Order: sequence, then structure tokens, then C-alpha cells
Amino acid sequence: MSKATTTSAFYDAGPVRTPRVFSGIQPTGVLHIGSYVGALQQWVARQHEHENIFCVVDLHALTIPEVVDPRGLRAASRSVAALFFAAGIDPAANIVFVQSQVHEHAELAWILNCTTPLGWLQRMTQFKSKAAGLESVGTGLLDYPVLQAADILLYDTDLVPVGDDQRQHVELTRDIAIRFNNLFGDVFTLPRVVIPDLGARIMGLDEPTVKMSKSLAESRSGHAINLLDSEVTVRKTIMAAVTDSGREVRFEYASPGVLNLLTIYQVLTDLSKDEIEREFEGVGYGQLKKALVEVVLGTLSPIQERFRCYMSDLDELDAILARGAERARSIAAGTLHRVKGAVGID
Ligand code: TYM
Repeated sequence: MSKATTTSAFYDAGPVRTPRVFSGIQPTGVLHIGSYVGALQQWVARQHEHENIFCVVDLHALTIPEVVDPRGLRAASRSVAALFFAAGIDPAANIVFVQSQVHEHAELAWILNCTTPLGWLQRMTQFKSKAAGLESVGTGLLDYPVLQAADILLYDTDLVPVGDDQRQHVELTRDIAIRFNNLFGDVFTLPRVVIPDLGARIMGLDEPTVKMSKSLAESRSGHAINLLDSEVTVRKTIMAAVTDSGREVRFEYASPGVLNLLTIYQVLTDLSKDEIEREFEGVGYGQLKKALVEVVLGTLSPIQERFRCYMSDLDELDAILARGAERARSIAAGTLHRVKGAVGID
């Protein structure tokens, strides 16, 4: 096997280290249950198995045209960080920081731009779908995955836990790293995407054939459950969720809407499919929805309580994030130094 195709350049160097995880979430609006189930909950569940770096990717959020209010972005970055902690990420055991506070991300992105073929970026599904609705497309939208590659590669990341929609971006990151290593030597560790078996693609409750997304959540009230939604809103959204004209609760024959509700129920309760089918045998979708309301409220209420606690002391929150940025920078600076040396600009 050539050096460029080994899973981790670090492993070649000697003793196996604890796998390092990197992942991020954009501070665009409030997080919804899809991001929670697809990403955040997975991070929390496995936070003590790995060395973790979790990032609020505010530079990425600049690519979204609606994010034009600087105060809004600053507040959203804090609020998303507070949600990480409220969901159970331990600030003492993990590095959590805001991307723009570590300038190495933008610097590495530039260097990677110079070795990334344009065609690779033009082929990205997310770029194509996001650009399709816009009159004028910012260069940042096209370049978005290169910045994401920089995020991941700066930390010699082994594992990137994300929802299904980010698979292509992590695969591109590997391609960018392989190409760079082939050109300049064995500089980058090759990361692997980690997609949860269950809940990797939570669908819109009002339209179960499209992925639950922050942009649709902002324009359509029944689309998503947000982590900060009130009890009344959660109840209303779930009870109005699109199902079908049947009533039998079975995973195998479920329509997209019913399957989506069952999936959220299964991820949040950790029950098996058999157990769930037995629970709802002969009672219809109404009961499933009512039970889901209770499970969702049971998940959200402690998160919301801890969220309020973190948001009540912004100085402390900022201090945690500043410490996170400092720890992140100490790793990122080393990698960037290696990269600059490899390309001849040190
Ligand atoms: P973002 O902010 O759109 O989403 C954050 C995470 O939530 C997952 N997710 C979902 N999972 C299941 N069902 C859904 N409906 C759903 N919606 C969102 C996403 O897959 C993601 O894991 N480009 C990234 C942010 C990023 C990043 C990184 C991620 C920037 N740099 C480096 C990993 C590593 C994004 O826009 O995520």
C-alpha cells in the first residue's frame, strides 16, 4: 500500500494513538432534531472513546446569503456552542471552539485551493442544489468544501461523524488530502467518515421526501422540531406530521412520513424495531405521534434547561470557547507549519 492510501499517516509513525474526531455545525438559526440525531447525539454518546474536536463553523455560515447580520451571527455562534454543551458535550474533556478564532483554517483553505481541481467542487451535490436557487452565486459557496477539508485536515483527524448529507464532503476531503500527499509528501492523515446506522437522514415532518433542513425550518412552521421549541410547538408539529391513510405501525411497510417518525422514536428511545412495533400494535399513527411527543419533550427539556444555564453566563461561555480555540490552535499551528514547509513557504 502506498503511503498516500494508508488510513492515518500518524499510525505509520509508531504506537497507535487514541483516534481523533473532528466535526462541526454551522451557526445558522437554531439546531433542529435532524442535526441532533444525525450528529450531536452521536458525538455525545462516543465522546469518551476518542479525542474530540467540535467546532462552530461560522466562516462556513458566511456563505449563506441570509446571514448578513453580524450581531445575529455572533449570537448564533454562542447559542450553537451552548447547545453543544447543553446536549452533553463535556467542555473539560473535549475541545470546542469557534472556527474564525483559529486563523489557520482560512490559511490552510487557501493552500488547498491551489491543489484542488475546480471540477471536483462543481460536482458537489450541495453546491449544485444551493447554487440552483440563487441569482448570484458567491465564490465561497463553491469553495465551501475546501474550507471543510481544511477544518478536518488541520487536526490529523481520523474520524468525522456527520449525517448522510455530509458524506460527499468528507470523501472529497480524503481526495484533497491524497492529491496533496502525492504532490508534496506524506503530510495529511486521511480521515474516514462515520455515518450513524440510524437517523443519518431525518426528513421534513411536513414533507417526508426532503431532508429536514435549517433553511426550510425557517420558512415553514411544520417542517422541523427545533431544539429550543416550546412544548406547544413540539406537540403541534408532531401531531400535524404527514403520514398516510393507513394505520398499521410497521417499519417494513411504512411510508416515508411514518418511517421518519419511527426513526426519530427509535433513535431517541434506543428500543428495537420489534419492541416498537409491539408497543404500537393495533393502535394506529395517532398513538405513535402522542408517544413521540412525550419522548421528544423528554429529550428537549433537560437540554433547554442546561442551555438557559450556559446562556445566563456569557462571559463564562466565551471563556470556555477561548480556551477551546487556544487548544485547537496549538494543534492547528503544527499542521500548518508542516504544510507550509512542504509547499516551500515556511
Ligand atoms: P450542518 O450545520 O448543515 O449540519 C450539522 C450536522 O448535522 C447533520 N444533519 C443531519 N443529520 C440527519 N438528518 C438531517 N436532516 C440533518 N441535517 C443536518 C449534518 O450531516 C451535519 O453532520 N458542512 C457541515 C459543517 C462542517 C463540518 C466541517 C462537518 C464544516 N466543517 C468539518 C464535519 C467536519 C454542515 O453544513 O453541517
